[in-house]
Amino acid sequence: MRILSGMRPTGRLHLGHMKGVLENWLKLQRKHHCFFFAADWHALTTDYANPGIVRDTIWDMLVDWLAVGIDPEQCVIFIQSEVPQHAELHLLFSFITPLPWLERVPTYKDQIEQLREKDLGTYGFLGYPLLQAADILIYRADAVPVGEDQVPHVELTREVARRFNHLYRKPGQPLFPEPESLLMPAAKLPGLDGRKMSKSYHNTIELSETWSVTEKKVKTMPTDPARVRRNDPGTPEKCPVWAFHKIYSTEEEQDWVRHGCTTAGIGCIDCKMCMLAHMKEELEPVRDRRTDISAHMDDVRDVVRAGNERARIEAERTMEKVRRALKMGYRV
Ligand code: TRP
Ligand code: SF4
Repeated sequence: MRILSGMRPTGRLHLGHMKGVLENWLKLQRKHHCFFFAADWHALTTDYANPGIVRDTIWDMLVDWLAVGIDPEQCVIFIQSEVPQHAELHLLFSFITPLPWLERVPTYKDQIEQLREKDLGTYGFLGYPLLQAADILIYRADAVPVGEDQVPHVELTREVARRFNHLYRKPGQPLFPEPESLLMPAAKLPGLDGRKMSKSYHNTIELSETWSVTEKKVKTMPTDPARVRRNDPGTPEKCPVWAFHKIYSTEEEQDWVRHGCTTAGIGCIDCKMCMLAHMKEELEPVRDRRTDISAHMDDVRDVVRAGNERARIEAERTMEKVRRALKMGYRV
């Protein structure tokens, strides 16, 4: 199977990205032909007024991918804008895409509402999911790992593929396959305050921070408010630390937490220290790799340059078929 997924460059990644997205990519890269890219043009659809953001964040994100284990030997890692064929396909798709298909994509109105401080009444923002369709179809991907909010974008991609095949190809000879969504399970790891882990909530554990910063954040993170004093019993379900235990701790440790918490047999710091030991085991190697990788940025650039080249070859192969389907053989 050929798999493609992209991530907007939003800077240093946090534990939520690692557990929710990147670990999924790691599994996929072992089994399938994967293409993973930094969606820098997509970042400009909302941040066109601050173009420096992409430059400042893209390499941090790519270093985090590599530190977590996204492996250029196993998959193609590239930057969207380095493969201009995406833009060409997006343009050609724009001619055949009815406006209502884009207007009814739920993220369209949601994002305009949520990002009121930005003027998203632009042509490019409306076309965001169509650019995504071009990203996917230009590699003729079979499947796209995405979060739930992105499923309608893959659905649109299928519709565009179908319309293109119908308009320009003989029945039974489609140019584009209709890709499936590989729905990634919703993040089980919340932020430090129990809400979704997100930079805008200031509740993250960044992959790039030092262990002492992480340790301090966890030690001061809120617990069940019922445990005011050490001998007040609590309820793990009302505590954000519990969600971390469910990911990191063994069954026996979880039993120990449940019993100790509800009987006030353990203090919250004891409870957190147990989970922290596991978290450290997981994060330390990632951070060591991150430090090594950041010390050799020329190698990172070489990796991405090679990925861009492979992606361009694949994208150009599709574009030749697309141009032929559109009877553009008169080009000299
Ligand atoms: N829109 C995706 C997001 O915000 C990023 C993205 C861009 C993408 N192009 C893609 C994801 C193609 C999958 C496939 O997360
Ligand atoms: Fe949370 Fe553990 Fe404290 Fe219970 S003992 S409130 S689970 S940190």
